Amino acid sequence: MKQEIEALTQEIEQLTLSNAEDAENARLKYLSRKGVFAQLFSKIGTVPASERAETGAKLNTIKQLLQEKIDAVQHNFSDIQESFDFDFTLSSKPVHQGRLHPLTLVEKEVIQIFERMGYVVAEGPEIETDWYNFSALNFESHHPARDMQDTFFISLNPDVLLRTHTSSVQVRVMEKQQPPVRIVALGRVYRNETITARANCLFHQLEVLYVDKNVSMADLKRDLLHFAREMFGKHTKIRLRASYFPFTEVSAEVDISCTICGGKGCNVCKHTGWVEILGCGMVDPNVLHNVGIDSEIYSGFAAGLGIERIAMLKYQINDLRLFFENDIRFLQQF
Ligand code: DAH
Repeated sequence: MKQEIEALTQEIEQLTLSNAEDAENARLKYLSRKGVFAQLFSKIGTVPASERAETGAKLNTIKQLLQEKIDAVQHNFSDIQESFDFDFTLSSKPVHQGRLHPLTLVEKEVIQIFERMGYVVAEGPEIETDWYNFSALNFESHHPARDMQDTFFISLNPDVLLRTHTSSVQVRVMEKQQPPVRIVALGRVYRNETITARANCLFHQLEVLYVDKNVSMADLKRDLLHFAREMFGKHTKIRLRASYFPFTEVSAEVDISCTICGGKGCNVCKHTGWVEILGCGMVDPNVLHNVGIDSEIYSGFAAGLGIERIAMLKYQINDLRLFFENDIRFLQQF
């Protein structure tokens, strides 16, 4: 046994492995299950007990030496290249990085603008009851304004529906919180509409609500003008046109000077120089009453804007369906 080990030690010390094939052959010969080392280790029982430990240690030392020689060759890339016929200079396949959806980009920007003005983000559910979506917002039960928003009811129970606007979140927040309230709420809304370039049955809105003492129409105009300039550029103008919503009195629609032609007139603004971006108004005292806020002490304004509309103006997109089709050629542009 002693001689065998000495012979093996010499053999391994002198062994030169010059490529991956040599290394693999050495591994098979010496280290495999029936290889030289396995056989020697199996005979270790024949060594007198007093010398066994020393013999085992010696065997391990040369085994390790061999392993190092094998590793050295296998970690040599040029040999791997030879044995696998692999061209390391080839460029790799391009990795396509994911990116944010244009609606997400606009949502983030809009929220940041309002957060900088001191608004806090609030949330509400997409499945709503009649109270939050309509009644508390001053839509009386047979009021024709309910028909302005073609509602999806989700059960036979006419009380449960998919929210048609984010104005429902106004009610949810004010029910729980006395003024000052200064929130924005973002989310999906649903309407039973035929899908066209200008309408979809699912879209996104941002609701704005500010209620406190002495809040006036001037505050509304200030915040909306600031928003429009942050979003569309500092020369943007706004104009308010009288309108009607059940939950605001007075009510208005807001136009911005056309982002495409700067107000000179083009296809997008139908040659008027203006494009509509949102609805707004002073919160109707009936709404404040419905949520337990004293309208003698407090007043507020609200606004609701369509995220798709903002995105279409910002990126000059003329078909709303593009946002929902997930066509990679469209999405890659943002
Ligand atoms: N909820 C309205 C809609 O979806 C938009 C709106 C108009 C929201 C005026 C408001 C507002 O908060 O004051 O058509």
